[in-house]
Amino acid sequence: MELERKAYMSKITVLGSMNLDTTIRTERLPMPGETVHSQEMFTGGGGKGANQAIAAARNGGIVSFIGALGDDAAGKTILELLEQDNIKIHGIKQLENIRTGSAYVMVDDKGENSIIIHGGANQKISDDHIVEVSSLITESDYVIAQLETNLSSIKKGFEIAKQMHITTILNPAPAPKQISEELIQLTDILIPNETELEIITGTKVTNQEELYTAAQIVHQMGIRVLIVTLGSKGAFYSFSNVRSGFVSSYNVEAKDTTAAGDTFIGALVTKLSTDMSNMEEAINYGNKASSLTVQRYGAQPSIPYENELIHI
Ligand code: RIB
Repeated sequence: MELERKAYMSKITVLGSMNLDTTIRTERLPMPGETVHSQEMFTGGGGKGANQAIAAARNGGIVSFIGALGDDAAGKTILELLEQDNIKIHGIKQLENIRTGSAYVMVDDKGENSIIIHGGANQKISDDHIVEVSSLITESDYVIAQLETNLSSIKKGFEIAKQMHITTILNPAPAPKQISEELIQLTDILIPNETELEIITGTKVTNQEELYTAAQIVHQMGIRVLIVTLGSKGAFYSFSNVRSGFVSSYNVEAKDTTAAGDTFIGALVTKLSTDMSNMEEAINYGNKASSLTVQRYGAQPSIPYENELIHI
């Protein structure tokens, strides 16, 4: 499935979280009450929003970021990392007396992970902040959000986007207890995993038939496009009840799946044409990019650049 190189570079605004990730590698994840030794430990850029922005920027997108950091050393490091990838950072505020978001990522020898996040500044984005930087939204082709920032900021950002007919993309991760109906109404493209899809639709998603049923529910909710990430099984898509199908993944040995979903989203959006006519090719590109991410440790350090994908 060859993807023609897009002459036009998509303008993408990510409204999302930024974390400083501390990754701890261990043979196996500890049980409650247990202490285990670690083989390696390192810090690096993370946060679903920042990871998706970096994946988009490394794969040909023109990317702006809207979000909040603490006025601390971690915040400074994250800004530098985003700038290194040519991401426009003037939509980011550094807030006083609050910590920058952080994540503690434990990865075992099978590539499984467990993550604890501390939201910090990610949870303190005000509506005024979003309004102040709204031109970043209205001048973009796509606005992407996840659920690691406060809901009010996402709603505000998506409201502004919808007023100007800008395509909104919601990655409902980490899995919410329930999803706000208002936010669903403002979403054009929904990119959940199976668990997140179950929560949103209130139905089980354990086989193909259930996946198709869930897709119908999502479209009835008013969402035009559904793309479900299925881990090693690839991805499923459904476009307005008109076209649907599966795109298989690349068969690789995973060392660390952290940021695999983020890479998929950021990379695929850079290749998606605004009429969605090349959905399969764009999803295949996202799968290709995330197949490299899972073979490397860490979040942002593992996200590939466009030139690494040419020969896969
Ligand atoms: O999706 C991976 C990300 O989730 C990590 O980088 C971590 O920061 C958490 O937000």
